[in-house]
Amino acid sequence: SAAEKGGYDYFMLKEIAEQPKAVADTLLGRIDDSGSLTLDEVRISAAELREVDKVVIIACGTAFHAGLIAKYAIEHWTRIPCEVELASEFRYRDPILDPRTLVIAISQSGETMDTLMALRHAREQGSKVLAICNTNGSTIPRESDAVLYTHAGPEVAVASTKAFLTQLVACYLVALYLGQVRGTKWGDEIDAVIRDLSQISGEVERVLETMEPVRALARTLASKNTVLFLGRHVGYPVALEGALKLKELAYMHAEGFAAGELKHGPIALIEEDLPVVVVVPSPRGRSVLHDKIVSNIQEIRARGARTIVIAEEGDETVVPYADHLIRIPATPTLLQPLVATVPLQVFACELATARGNEVDQPRNLAKSVTVE
Ligand code: G6P
Repeated sequence: SAAEKGGYDYFMLKEIAEQPKAVADTLLGRIDDSGSLTLDEVRISAAELREVDKVVIIACGTAFHAGLIAKYAIEHWTRIPCEVELASEFRYRDPILDPRTLVIAISQSGETMDTLMALRHAREQGSKVLAICNTNGSTIPRESDAVLYTHAGPEVAVASTKAFLTQLVACYLVALYLGQVRGTKWGDEIDAVIRDLSQISGEVERVLETMEPVRALARTLASKNTVLFLGRHVGYPVALEGALKLKELAYMHAEGFAAGELKHGPIALIEEDLPVVVVVPSPRGRSVLHDKIVSNIQEIRARGARTIVIAEEGDETVVPYADHLIRIPATPTLLQPLVATVPLQVFACELATARGNEVDQPRNLAKSVTVE
């Protein structure tokens, strides 16, 4: 009913708007007054966490994209090798698992059969499984050694939005906690990132306030057949998520690529007026990547692409090559997905509406897939 949707036309719009609160709620009570993480829920002892020599993340769909981003954070802050694998592929290749492997299963519903079967397989090999889940008491957390709940609240729209952002927050918390417990050389950076995370809800709110031009742009693209998405580093999984949202909601051909791979194939797809969304990393921090992406934007634009550029406020280098510029607040590199994903959700939702699609219940899809 309209009341359930809180005055929004679709649950998806409501859930997009709820993201600042969802992000804040997922942080709530997990950072103490001294700025340290208190993840009591992770009932795996500090001693055991110090022994971990490999992290394996398993998930499907949007949750898999959260896992891809988590890998960058986990490896950077903990120096533990981290693999991310589609749950449906995982157990069928006889993966190398032992008691020192920490498996993280990410699932909004906690009922996805592929993820459940993968975690059962991991536990049979003696690995510890930590679930990151949005649904209290669901099967995946019940069958795991520990669970870190995301506090996004119920997500009704089939296409995941607020659950994704809170999965990212939970992944960062786990990565920072592992870093804290193991005492890596990134101690000062970890403290700073914990402070930045506390600000991020407000940044997501600011992004939401500036989405009208993104909706207007989406409406002009309603008759297109294909949209490509490019990113690098954590912007690469963001590109994959942007493309997935467009497939799910707008039923358009959409693909995400690592921008560095452009020259190895995808650039052949560029033709006159093809919309290409590019997620630009911060010019601060990993500035080498930033400059390489700016070159990519120039290359595709020279070949006729219509460039839709998502870039940090104050990044002026992209201005000459952006047909459309979407601004996001400056954040630390690893946290950028929390703000960069939001315009892509709004973009896909508006394109679906413009194409007359059912936003909350896309054809052929289910919110939770309980068969393998
Ligand atoms: C389905 C949904 C997706 C979701 C995926 C994984 O395919 O349509 O939105 O990302 O399942 O779901 P989970 O509940 O495990 O996160």
